Amino acid sequence: MPSNPSNPQTDELSEVETDLVHVARLALASNSSHAQVTLRRLARRYRDRRPALASDLVMLLRESPLRSSAGRATVMAEPIDTESRLPLVREEEHVVLSVEPVLDTETNASLQQLLREYRMPEPLLEAGIAPTRTALFTGPPGVGKTLAARWLARELGVPLIVLDLSTVISSLLGRTGNNLRKVLDYAKSTKSILLLDELDAIAKKRDDVTDVGELKRLVTVLLQEVDSWPGGSLLLAATNHPELLDPAVWRRFELLVEFPLPEPEKLAAAIQRYLDGNEIGNETLSMLAQLYVGSSFNDVEREVMRARRAAVLDGTSIEQALFQIAQIRIRTLPAAQRGRFVAEIIRSTGMSQRRASEMTGVSRDTIRKYMANQSSSSAKREEIGDAG
Ligand SMILES: Nc1ncnc2c1ncn2[C@@H]1O[C@H](COP(=O)(O)OP(=O)(O)O)[C@@H](O)[C@H]1O
Ligand SMILES: [Mg+2]
Repeated sequence: MPSNPSNPQTDELSEVETDLVHVARLALASNSSHAQVTLRRLARRYRDRRPALASDLVMLLRESPLRSSAGRATVMAEPIDTESRLPLVREEEHVVLSVEPVLDTETNASLQQLLREYRMPEPLLEAGIAPTRTALFTGPPGVGKTLAARWLARELGVPLIVLDLSTVISSLLGRTGNNLRKVLDYAKSTKSILLLDELDAIAKKRDDVTDVGELKRLVTVLLQEVDSWPGGSLLLAATNHPELLDPAVWRRFELLVEFPLPEPEKLAAAIQRYLDGNEIGNETLSMLAQLYVGSSFNDVEREVMRARRAAVLDGTSIEQALFQIAQIRIRTLPAAQRGRFVAEIIRSTGMSQRRASEMTGVSRDTIRKYMANQSSSSAKREEIGDAG
């Protein structure tokens, strides 16, 4: 039967068929970097119409090393380690995020301004000011430093080149010392964002006495680069341990962006993103957000994904699965913290003590005691304040 060209379903199917053949051809030719670029493009194309398919593709792409020099008229070859012949950088030609970052207000303001500077450089240049060339991201692990770099690259539509110092530092030291130079020249040769990730790896390596001279040389080269980074491309660096960095390193960067541990409201927003359209009640969401105060986004994402898997395997709802994980976590909280946690839920949601007790499994007695303690101590503070 001839297919009806105006039938949108048939159209879509034939589009998928064409894509499938294209990907198959690349796979059979073992052209993995080109296949990655194509799959990334498909993930974007299907994001709205076939979200499940798009997210499957994104997961697959995440599992394979992100590296591609195809699809771009590269002037320079991707830099590789002279000795091992392995790539020194991880490159994302077209960034596809599986989750949009949830950002702290101040962090967001800094990054939004950075975007504006790159999107409309003309007024700045007319005023004789260059857009920010270098920025240092600091904060604990798992709060979105690497994610934010990827997000910036996607927003600006440029490739992201990542030099992860925690994995390649040894390649940057030693006799084959021009590996670093290769990476920097490569990044400068193309309109891109270069991320020096896990910068503190350099400081940690300091204990390794044999490398001290080499390390100094590496730091010197890096600092010179930060100083002389050309306008037009952005140099980012990220560290989990800013205190390990020499103040001389800090001072070199034009912009410092802090990524704090998330507040409960940000955690709630992130949990909703990780649920990917699966809904849970507001009370459960508030409880979880309070429960994970002090955790990173990454930790919370892991817990939500665990609950989603458990829900599928056990045939329960995700809310129930999350609830079960939460109950275990609550039981292991130290008593005082458990009391504070429940009091905070009651304060932030306005739910009754009875309801809070049902949800958390903390006895009403404990809750009453804690609330009474709290109000008497705040009353005491007021008295002292009044007297003074
Ligand atoms: N701000 C955030 N918003 C949403 N998800 C986040 C955020 N920060 C981290 N995550 C989740 O945790 C993962 C790891 O975060 P990452 O950016 O690598 O942390 P960092 O570089 O600060 O150690 C991300 O890929 C994302 O899934
Ligand atoms: Mg990181």
